[in-house]
Amino acid sequence: MDATISEAFDLTDRVAVVTGAGRGLGRAIASRLAEAGAEVVCADLAGDTAEETARLIVAAGGSAWAHSVDVTDREAVDGMVAAAVDRHGHLDVIVNNAAIIVDSTVLDTTEEDLDRVMAVNYKGVFFGCQAAGRVMRDQGSGSIINLASGAIDIPTPGLICYSAAKVAVAQLSRTLAVELGPFQVRVNAIAPGWIDTPMNERHVLRPDGTIDPDKKRDYVAMRSKMSPLGLPGEPDDIAFAALYLASPAARFVTGIVMRPNGGSTMPICHPSRSRPFRREGPGQAFLAVSRNGRVLSGRGSPGRPRTRSPMTLRWICSVPPPRRMPHCPTKSCWNMPRR
Ligand SMILES: NC(=O)c1ccc[n+]([C@@H]2O[C@H](COP(=O)([O-])OP(=O)(O)OC[C@H]3O[C@@H](n4cnc5c(N)ncnc54)[C@H](O)[C@@H]3O)[C@@H](O)[C@H]2O)c1
Repeated sequence: MDATISEAFDLTDRVAVVTGAGRGLGRAIASRLAEAGAEVVCADLAGDTAEETARLIVAAGGSAWAHSVDVTDREAVDGMVAAAVDRHGHLDVIVNNAAIIVDSTVLDTTEEDLDRVMAVNYKGVFFGCQAAGRVMRDQGSGSIINLASGAIDIPTPGLICYSAAKVAVAQLSRTLAVELGPFQVRVNAIAPGWIDTPMNERHVLRPDGTIDPDKKRDYVAMRSKMSPLGLPGEPDDIAFAALYLASPAARFVTGIVMRPNGGSTMPICHPSRSRPFRREGPGQAFLAVSRNGRVLSGRGSPGRPRTRSPMTLRWICSVPPPRRMPHCPTKSCWNMPRR
């Protein structure tokens, strides 16, 4: 590719639709795409929040307008894409980001909840892919970005509707990447780890519905420990991933599920559940995670354990096989060997 770095990430004259742009990750993605030069259509069920995102973008010197849409309504989604094309003559990027979450186990899930989550999180993305995909196929270019979740990688008790819909989104993205590749339309998914957004406030609410700052601090700390980096994710971590996939820099990238998650879904013995050191007998391989989250491995023998890159963990975990950890309080980081 014959381009400077700023040209490779430049979205000037590109038109991007972002659903669920009224808050959280959608707002961050819309803002970063606009900062890179795109004309952004901020779409949301809550029209006033979409207006607010568009207003913030314009105030920061970008270009954006708001559109009210319910992504479960196929005609409304077609109308959103048609409105973007009518106004600008083309559509270059769509980020199918809108979603909802319902906490329930498999046995407790009602048919109503299942239908509701599937309607927003899967069918909404599907309709967005269809409407934008047809336009992009005819114009011979485009980038479709669908939001999946880290919940596609690990069975998460109590989150079945959401995670099943997200698995479907990942497979939809890969299938469409094959179908639209010949038309130079790229299709990718992003599967974020935990990010502090309004979607996750439900874990830290007081009985009166307001946020409990102590609970929130503890919850963010607990989530941070799930990453080998010891960091919580931020909306911009996902916005920059979307910017990359939307930009010319990713011209050779299609059919991937990008995982900006701080390493939280790797099949490792997790610091929050491991003893500070796990030493085996002489000559026996071991894996340990120190209190500060560093991964240590080696052979049981006198001397200091070596620190290894998490990239080698899958191999190390196979000698000896990882133990099934007891119930995880976060309900989302079970230690699942992938073999
Ligand atoms: N926050 C995280 O930790 C996290 C982790 C993994 C994946 N994700 C995914 O990232 C995306 C954004 O998540 P978020 O945390 O910003 O969520 P959020 O709840 O903060 O925002 C979601 C937005 O979608 C909109 N929306 C909901 N239903 C809609 C509908 N029917 N039509 C149009 N808009 C609708 C809401 O009004 C809201 O503005 C979602 O797809 C989510 O599943 C988030």
